[in-house]
Amino acid sequence: MISKRINEMMETSSFIRKMFETGSELKAKYGAENVFDFSLGNPHALPPENFNSVLLKKAADKTRHAYMPNAGYPDVRQKVAEFASTEQQKVLSGDNVVMTSGAGGALNAVLKTLLNPGDTVIASTPCFMEYKFYCDNHGGSLVLVPGKKDFNIDVENIEGAITEKTAAVIINSPNNPSGRVYPEETIIALGRMLKKKSSEIGRTVYLISDEPYRKIVYDGITVPPVLKHYNNAIICTSYSKDLSIPGERIGYAAVNPDAEDYDNLINGIILCNRILGYVNAPALMQRTIAELQGVSVDINLYKKKRDMLAGGLKEMGYEFRIPEGTFYLLVKAPGGDDMKMVDLLLQEKILTVPGRGFGVPEYFRIAFCVDENVISGAMDGFRRAAEKAGML
Ligand SMILES: Cc1ncc(COP(=O)(O)O)c(C=O)c1O
Repeated sequence: MISKRINEMMETSSFIRKMFETGSELKAKYGAENVFDFSLGNPHALPPENFNSVLLKKAADKTRHAYMPNAGYPDVRQKVAEFASTEQQKVLSGDNVVMTSGAGGALNAVLKTLLNPGDTVIASTPCFMEYKFYCDNHGGSLVLVPGKKDFNIDVENIEGAITEKTAAVIINSPNNPSGRVYPEETIIALGRMLKKKSSEIGRTVYLISDEPYRKIVYDGITVPPVLKHYNNAIICTSYSKDLSIPGERIGYAAVNPDAEDYDNLINGIILCNRILGYVNAPALMQRTIAELQGVSVDINLYKKKRDMLAGGLKEMGYEFRIPEGTFYLLVKAPGGDDMKMVDLLLQEKILTVPGRGFGVPEYFRIAFCVDENVISGAMDGFRRAAEKAGML
């Protein structure tokens, strides 16, 4: 018998598994080219050309592939810190950076460092629901508060959920699944509120900013800095999405040098990176991304896909807010029933994810990190589903 808790978790996340299994069955039956899979945030784009050339060069280096300091290679951390300093408008040194196994690895190391048994972490919906499991991994629980109608976070709602048990607030901008980029005024207001509440409850409420989509933004938008606006903030991010290398598991955590209890915080994250079994982030990937600071896949290709999808769906009466970043479109389910709409689309061999997987059951998510043929091929099916849903 396996653990009861894991059994329960498998049950609660079963619709994602169901979607995956249904997708595999459909592909086996009708051929992969006849199934339109928009279910996963797994980038279809190849990494940029210079990723391959740097990787080949690094792989050819006659060097040791040994254990290293658990935080990563010092020279890599330094290069990462220099670039992150610009993004965050805060001077960081390599000592403030811990190289991790993707953003997921960073989040787990940070949460393990912060949480006491029974502590809570607050997130605003819609959000990436793996946070729930990550909090649970370390004896805590995730508290969800509703975001605003335009998918911005609601600082007052977050404030209302803070108690003595609150260890942290997690934000994710650009957001999976809404594509929303939170405005700088919101980050400033959040920072002010967290400072005030921390002193009220006599406990530092840390802000974890999960930002693997920072470089995937459109229409000239830039993602506001977080470390500039709150001292007790930690960035968790990765190269998974912007370099199209999620399988390579490389990312980092960056801690604000002015954070409360800074030395323990950074040393705790380094220890947790080790004792979670990651030991250190993959060596070859660290050496590769060090040379690729600021590089990303061609964002225009994603913009083209976004516009193609959004343009087509709008005409059919689907309702959504144009995403400012990421490669996700969060669409209103007609009648507010996400499962029904996802089922109607499945009948058209179109795979999407119900919004309840992100805390918003009245929506469904379309991941458009797919080939353009998948988008154009799915349009007739989207139209038929809209007809069946009574939208046309
Ligand atoms: C919001 C968000 N955070 C974290 C992750 C995990 O990313 P990584 O592959 O870097 O672990 C994802 C992956 O989809 C994500 O969407």
